[in-house]
Amino acid sequence: MLTPTLVILALKYAVGAVTVLLVFSLIALAKGKIKLHGKINLAFFILTVAALFLFEIVVRMIDPVLFSGLWKNAVLAKSLKIHLCFAVPSVFLMGIMLFTGLRKLRVWHKRVAIVFLVCWVGTFYTGIFWLPNHVEMSNKATFSGAQ
Ligand code: HEM
Repeated sequence: MLTPTLVILALKYAVGAVTVLLVFSLIALAKGKIKLHGKINLAFFILTVAALFLFEIVVRMIDPVLFSGLWKNAVLAKSLKIHLCFAVPSVFLMGIMLFTGLRKLRVWHKRVAIVFLVCWVGTFYTGIFWLPNHVEMSNKATFSGAQ
């Protein structure tokens, strides 16, 4: 059965998994394997967008009331908002990174990379360590994560 806890944990694993890909792509880049960097990041982009679509489908179409309780908890709602402040720009910048990488717009690719990395580190940190690992179904949400 779909529960907020399951959805949040799935999202945490998804963020962790794609971050591993991003780290591998940066290792490839450091070793001068630019084509490999591009291929890994294409996978990073596709998987991240796929996970987002899946999440949106679950939250908005399959079970729209699933997350309604979360926003009623003031502390959790604040954590979610802070997380989204990093996650939303990350997705937007990820698209720019793919575009500038494929079009070989090197200068812009490197400039945007700095902002993207800051946003992604924020997405990773707030997603994995700030959001709870366990969420109760009522109006309450208990934090059993880092906080
Ligand atoms: C976050 C830190 C990143 C850094 C520092 C970085 C840096 C670079 C550099 C230096 C190149 C080589 C440019 C050239 O000489 O043509 C490159 C290529 C590329 N990057 Fe990135 N990149 C990063 C992230 C990303 C991300 C997130 C994506 C996609 C979502 C991406 C996609 C690509 C692609 C497709 C290429 C072209 C590969 C090819 O020529 O086959 N990069 N990147």
